[in-house]
Amino acid sequence: MSNVKLLSGENVPLEMHKVRMVQRVNLLPVEDRLKCMQEAGFNTFLLKNQDIFLDMLTDSGVNAMSENQYAAMMQADDSYAGSETFFRLESVLQDIFGMKHFLPAHQGRACENIIAQTFVKPGSVVLMNYHFTTTKAHITVMGGSVEEIIVDEALKTSSDMPFKGDINIDRLNEAINRLGKEKIAFMRIEAAANLVGGQPVSMDNMREVSRICRQHGILLVCDASLLADNLYFIKTRDEKYKNVDIKEITREIASFMDIVYFSARKLGSARGGGILVSDDALFLKMRELVPLFEGFLTYGGMSVREMEAMAVGMRETMDIDIISQTPIFVEALCNELLTKGVPVVTPPGGLGCHVDAGLFCEHIPETQYRAGALAAAMFIGGGVRGMERGTLSEQRNDDGTERIADMELLRLALPKRVFTLSQVKYTADRIAWLFKNRHLIGGLEFVEEPKVLRFFFGRLKPIGNWPELLAAQFRKDFGESL
Ligand SMILES: Cc1ncc(COP(=O)(O)O)c(C=O)c1O
Repeated sequence: MSNVKLLSGENVPLEMHKVRMVQRVNLLPVEDRLKCMQEAGFNTFLLKNQDIFLDMLTDSGVNAMSENQYAAMMQADDSYAGSETFFRLESVLQDIFGMKHFLPAHQGRACENIIAQTFVKPGSVVLMNYHFTTTKAHITVMGGSVEEIIVDEALKTSSDMPFKGDINIDRLNEAINRLGKEKIAFMRIEAAANLVGGQPVSMDNMREVSRICRQHGILLVCDASLLADNLYFIKTRDEKYKNVDIKEITREIASFMDIVYFSARKLGSARGGGILVSDDALFLKMRELVPLFEGFLTYGGMSVREMEAMAVGMRETMDIDIISQTPIFVEALCNELLTKGVPVVTPPGGLGCHVDAGLFCEHIPETQYRAGALAAAMFIGGGVRGMERGTLSEQRNDDGTERIADMELLRLALPKRVFTLSQVKYTADRIAWLFKNRHLIGGLEFVEEPKVLRFFFGRLKPIGNWPELLAAQFRKDFGESL
C-alpha cells in the first residue's frame, strides 16, 4: 500500500504513479474570481474551466487515465454493430464481476433510465441506502418514489463508524412488511454512497441485504459507480478482507446482486457506463431499451475509444495501489482540516472531502442554501471549484416548499491521480481562511430555478453584498498574493 511512513514518523500519502502529461491551470486574482462567480449566477456548475485553479467539482469523467488506457484507445474497432471493442470490454467485465450479460449505455444515468423504465411503475417504491440525484429523478419521473433506509449514523457528519453506507436491516424488514414485495420495484445499494460523503457499505451488510431480498423475491440492484472506493475500504477497514484480492472482493459483491450498473466516468477512469446482469429474463427485458435510448447493443452510445479505455481502466481498478490514491488523499485533506478546526464528514470517505456546510455556515438560514453559499465563497476565496451537495441539490416538495437536505455539504472531489499534495495543502489553507472569516459569508436565493435537477443550471444571487466584503477581506489578509 502506498501509505509510507517517514523517518519523522509522519505518514505520507505517496503517489504510486508519475505524471508525464500535464494541463496548465490559472489562478486569477480575487477580484476576477468574484466577477466570474457573479457571471456564473453563484452556481459553480456555470463557471468556465479556464477561470478555475483547482477543479474539485467532481471526479466524473475527469480522472487521470493511464498510458495503457491511452494506448488501448488507438486500437479501437469502430463499427456500428459487432465491434471487436465491445467483445473485449464485455469479456473484461464478465471476468471481473462474474456476471453473464453486459448492456452498454452512454453514462450512469442512462443505466438508471433503463432500469427505472423497466422496473418502476406509478406508485412503486425503490428502497435504497441513500439516493443519488439522477437516480431519484429517474424513479420519480416514472411515478415511483424513493425510501432511504440507511443506518442513522450516516446522517451524523462526525462519526467513527467505518461503514456508514450500510443499510439499516431493521428498517429493511419493516419496509418489506409494510409495503409488501409487489410495491417494491427493487432494492438499491449504492457503493460508497455519494451524497452522505462517499461512505462505504460493508460486505456483511451487502450479504445480509441480499439474503433478505432473495428470501422475499425482491430484486437487488447495486450502483457501482463508486465501487473502487468501496473496494478499498472493505480491504482496509474490514480485518476479514485484509488479505483478500480486490478482484475476489468484487466478485463476492457481485454474487449478492441481481443487477450491477455503473458510471464509467467514475469507475474505471474513462467515460460511459453499463449494466451487468446474469438472469436471462432480466437481461432481455432491459435489452429492448438500449437501442431505443442509447444506440446499438455493441456500443450503447459510447465511443469505441472510450470503451477500450474502460476495459483497461476496469482491469486497473483491481489494483490496490491504483484505487488507494484518492481515499488516502481525501484522508490527508480531511485530517489537515480537522486540525484547523474545520468541520468535515468523518470518517473520511471516498471521492472527496466533504465539508459540513451546515455547521460551517450555521449563521445562514437553512433555506438560503448554506452549502451553495460556501461553494461560491470557496471559489472567491481560493479559485477552487467544489460542488454543493445539500438543499440546492434537492427537488422541491410537491407543494413547492423547500425540501431541506439531511446534510448540507460542500464536496471537494479529488479526481483520481489529478492533484498533487501541495495543491491539496493549498486547498486546506484557503478553507481554513474561509472558516476564520465565515461570519462574512451570507445566503443565496434563486433568480432562475429549473424544475428538474435545478442545481445543474439554476442561477442565484447573494443576499446582501457579502461576496464583495469577502473579496475585500481576502485582499486585506493576503496582500498581493493570488
Ligand atoms: C453514485 C452515482 N450514481 C450515478 C451517477 C450518474 O452517473 P453519470 O454522471 O455518468 O450519469 C453518479 C454520478 O456522479 C453517481 O455518483
